[in-house]
Amino acid sequence: MGSKTWGGRFAKGTAPELERFSTSVHFDRKLWRQDVRASMAHARMLGRQGILSADEAGTLVSGLEQVARELEAGELELDPGLEDIHTNVEHRLGEIVGPLAGKLHSGRSRNDQVATDLALWMREASAGLREALADLRQVLVERAADEIDVILPGYTHLQRAQPVRLAHHWLAYYEMLTRDDGRLRDAAARLDACPLGSGALAGSTLPLDRESTAAELGFARPSPNSLDAVASRDGALELMAALSIAMVHLSRLCEELILWSSTEFGFVEMDDAYATGSSLMPQKKNPDVPELVRGKTGRVVGDLTSLLITVKGLPLAYNRDLQEDKEPLFDAVETAGDCLRLLAAAVHTLRVRADAMGRAASDPMLVATDLADHLVLAGVPFREAHGIVGKVVAHAIETGIALDSVSRADLQAFHPALDFEPAAFFSAERSLEARTSTGAPARAQVERAIAAARQQLAATRSELEETP
Ligand code: ARG
Repeated sequence: MGSKTWGGRFAKGTAPELERFSTSVHFDRKLWRQDVRASMAHARMLGRQGILSADEAGTLVSGLEQVARELEAGELELDPGLEDIHTNVEHRLGEIVGPLAGKLHSGRSRNDQVATDLALWMREASAGLREALADLRQVLVERAADEIDVILPGYTHLQRAQPVRLAHHWLAYYEMLTRDDGRLRDAAARLDACPLGSGALAGSTLPLDRESTAAELGFARPSPNSLDAVASRDGALELMAALSIAMVHLSRLCEELILWSSTEFGFVEMDDAYATGSSLMPQKKNPDVPELVRGKTGRVVGDLTSLLITVKGLPLAYNRDLQEDKEPLFDAVETAGDCLRLLAAAVHTLRVRADAMGRAASDPMLVATDLADHLVLAGVPFREAHGIVGKVVAHAIETGIALDSVSRADLQAFHPALDFEPAAFFSAERSLEARTSTGAPARAQVERAIAAARQQLAATRSELEETP
């Protein structure tokens, strides 16, 4: 471990225990591609501005290309004594091009450098996450199309409420995840200002051309305020907030898959490849993927919380506390990406027990609300209708006669408008097909929702292809 010295101001090197405490290269090495890319843009700009000669700039760029090749090949051993990836890259550049490497840092600080690298990294991360999210959205839509005729009880308070299509249930999660995609897109779109050239905190006296480095790195503009540019981490917070919300959605889906896998529900069975057995109980098959995703949700929310608290008390501008931004950010992105990919596979391979779902949905009690609606159409005020149907339900419970087996004459005794064949009226299919307004689970509505979802997904995919 080489001991870093800080130039003329310091009479001796850093204490070894401080080096160990303060080094970040074991995690910020993840930023090496962004660091080299931004350094090249900076060197070229210094050349264009006459701060360096064209030759000097060219030598720095080809030296950086060599550093990149060595990092790509895993040939460059990073030195924790050099604190972070930024200093390691510059140090290796010095070994390659000699003292000229010392000119790269003209008009630049690690403070604007790290903010720039991080913004570049997050833009790419957001695109990768949106890709994984699109794959899971796709799985949900395909299942919806395949399972449009599978009917199960919809629940409120985890009590059977009214019948719904399984497709409608999958598409509910599709909608949540589509909003998550929008949040990830927004978070990346707001990372459109390039911090490079903000220096340590107050720009530079050198004639930098920040517009040109911003453009070369794919940003819309240079950041408008140097203090803000080096001090702010709301881009990372926003990305992690979007991921936390997405994880909460995944966690709810997982909670249902876990419940549905139980013998009590018996609605689904996880594929063997995405479940595990018990080391003790030979009969067991555990829904590990959804359980882990549900568990890792806490971790991602914790990552967001950690950075929120890191930033909350900081005076402007850069403070070393900000080095604590990277581990939670990297962890949240990696964890959420893994969860999206694993869950897509687990849902894709899930076996649905349509018969068990259908049996659970066939309880005529789930159609009781339709009786009240029928009375409303006959002019009975809903509150009154609710009371009448409550009496019909109580009668069914008292006599032990299922609602759909009550005789037509008995029904009419409760209200003359209840004049129909009970057996046909109380079918889950009939009830579903009567629910035809926008957003309801009638077959035609669900078909429309599937078509709309497919179009949205295609739009997401082509947007992601166009992202540089
Ligand atoms: N390793 C630091 C970070 O990740 C880089 C910036 C250090 N700047 C400084 N003035 N010590 O935030």
